[in-house]
Amino acid sequence: EKGGYDHFMLKEIMEQPNAIKSTIEPRIQNGEVVLDDFSLTDEDLRQINKIMITACGSAFYAGSVGKYVMEELCRIPVEADLASELRYRNPLVDEHTLLVVVSQSGETADTIAAMKECKARGARILAIVNVVGSTIAKLADHVIYTWAGPEIAVATTKGYTTQVAVLDMLAVYLARRLGKLDDQRNKELVEAILQFPSLIQRAIDLNPNLPALAQKYHGHNDMFFIGRNVDYAASMEGSLKLKEISYLHSEAYAAGELKHGTIALIEKDRPVIALACYEALFDKMMSNIKEVKARGAQVLAVVLEGNRQIFAEADDVIFVPRTEALFNSLPEIVPLQLFAYYVARANGCDIDKPKNLAKSVTVE
Ligand code: F6R
Repeated sequence: EKGGYDHFMLKEIMEQPNAIKSTIEPRIQNGEVVLDDFSLTDEDLRQINKIMITACGSAFYAGSVGKYVMEELCRIPVEADLASELRYRNPLVDEHTLLVVVSQSGETADTIAAMKECKARGARILAIVNVVGSTIAKLADHVIYTWAGPEIAVATTKGYTTQVAVLDMLAVYLARRLGKLDDQRNKELVEAILQFPSLIQRAIDLNPNLPALAQKYHGHNDMFFIGRNVDYAASMEGSLKLKEISYLHSEAYAAGELKHGTIALIEKDRPVIALACYEALFDKMMSNIKEVKARGAQVLAVVLEGNRQIFAEADDVIFVPRTEALFNSLPEIVPLQLFAYYVARANGCDIDKPKNLAKSVTVE
């Protein structure tokens, strides 16, 4: 049942190229993103002045990627908020809000509650869900299924990446309908989406050294992830993967926040995993990497394939294949899932069933 793999998590990581293929292929037709399940008239669309994304855990981190991508392409305000917070803060949503709810199981209690709060205030609700017929799928006005197939390991992998793929597609779809994408730019983005399955496969194939890197880093008790823009969004998921299955303490910080406190924790040999794939901000990341190096950190950098500059500073490097800059989160999370997996393995953890965690959190 594990398809020859030692754990469901590894099997599910390896299934990602196919899972993503099932997610995207039916939704690209004649060079356009087509979301048949999302029936928005032009009038409906004109009414929307804000997009709010809500979810828990990894699904929230997928939503955080979606915030960067959607806001950049659609040029309307996009907020991502934790469902457990949104539900209790008398949210400012109304009939002009599109609420995007993200959930693999479709049964997460806080997510359902946040959704109901927003529905009561008139928001239009689009759910991105994996499980057909789940509670969230039933409550939503529109549903886009992620088609990842069943996910058994408690730590999500293909659930998360298919959510990100749908959010990337949704961003292109909405931007196109809002008149924010010309034919040429639309073509480039759609072509990049069609490459997602091979991109994910390449992200796996490019990094055969991950078990060795895990051997080098697994004995540390604290690690920091840093990144900017979509790299920051991906770093939060990378950090969660590591902590939930390996029980190492790790935290993700927006790299610009280091100076505002966290840098006090950087000391000799402290591992810092620096995500620096978003090239527009690469120089800024290089300065952050220099700052932590100057305080003795060991830096494991995650950069685009072909980047040579990084060797001047990084102790170790993970390479990520190139795509449209806004879509970087997708290939870059894959080696970080594998890194977490091999670190947990090196630490002898029960990878598919981490302690204290349930696959679906149906109580508050
Ligand atoms: C982490 C993980 C959880 C879930 C969260 C939301 O690996 O799996 O953080 O992402 O509990 O679950 P869903 O997506 O089912 O609403």
